[in-house]
Amino acid sequence: MGVATIPEGVQLRQAGITAPIAILGATNTLAEIRELVEYRLQPTIGHGAQLRRLAEILTALEHRLGIHVAIDTGMGRLGVHWTEGEAFARDCLQCPAVTVSSIYSHLATADDPDVTSCLQQQQRFDEVCRSLQRSGCALPPVHLANTAAVLLGRHLHYDWVRPGLGIYGLYPAPHLRDRLVLRPAMTVNSRITQIKTVPAGMGISYGHRYYTDSERAIAVVGIGYADGVPRGLSNQITMAVQGRLAPQVGVITMDQCMIDVTEVPQAQVGDVVTVLGTHPGGGAEDWAERLGTISWEILCGFKHRLPRLNLPASGRSHPQDWLAPGRRGVS
Ligand SMILES: Cc1ncc(COP(=O)(O)O)c(C=O)c1O
Repeated sequence: MGVATIPEGVQLRQAGITAPIAILGATNTLAEIRELVEYRLQPTIGHGAQLRRLAEILTALEHRLGIHVAIDTGMGRLGVHWTEGEAFARDCLQCPAVTVSSIYSHLATADDPDVTSCLQQQQRFDEVCRSLQRSGCALPPVHLANTAAVLLGRHLHYDWVRPGLGIYGLYPAPHLRDRLVLRPAMTVNSRITQIKTVPAGMGISYGHRYYTDSERAIAVVGIGYADGVPRGLSNQITMAVQGRLAPQVGVITMDQCMIDVTEVPQAQVGDVVTVLGTHPGGGAEDWAERLGTISWEILCGFKHRLPRLNLPASGRSHPQDWLAPGRRGVS
């Protein structure tokens, strides 16, 4: 499994996961290295000083650790520059304090319709791998593909793949939609906490950036920007209640927001509100487009104060059935 940070890896261990876990972000400090050892987490190693420091500390602790060697083939982020890739990977393979669990690189432009730069990165990666083999090294598993590269084809798959967005069932770019059928897997739900009928001309929420144009039924929903519903989407998105659409109205506040349920007369306090889902005006891609950002940022924006819930694959599939009364959550 791959995670970005040590605390995420620790969380997986504490949840009982025993599979190897790669930390794809940087780790440097003594405290971090102690945690890697304690929780059997495998760091990304991307430069010589980092390798030497890790080896020194592991030797003192009399411990050996799996590592993932990062080669920067053109992302300009973690990893040794590709021209030094072979020598660095060889140093890692020969270092007695570590076992090289994999060698990898990360693509910067795999979601671009023009694949020139992506293929250039691949060539640089191949060259590092080939020269290691030529110099007699046994190659550990190697990997390169994010979701876009997984969708682009098998020539980019190597031994392992690292899809992120794809496991949430979203496409990195519209031109990759015909490659594979993906279904959005994450929904965010809350509940109606109050409903009231208000007259025409009533200002709703901070700054009165919305006024009712007729008598309306306004419902309060217990979720706000502190949970991950971007305030910049105020008055622009739609939520779903009892299978019907309800426009969000007024500025989204920190912990609450309002929706217009006039067209859902059967709506009641306690009803589940699907905030992010697959309904029109409620998808991550739709939100991202309105905000001028990417769907990755929308998904990551849902904060951990929202409990994560496992939606059963079949059976009790309506949120009303599985979201406990008064609860909100990401599933
Ligand atoms: C090193 C690495 N691998 C894989 C991924 C997954 O990328 P994507 O979400 O585009 O599939 C990321 C995303 O941040 C990453 O940084």
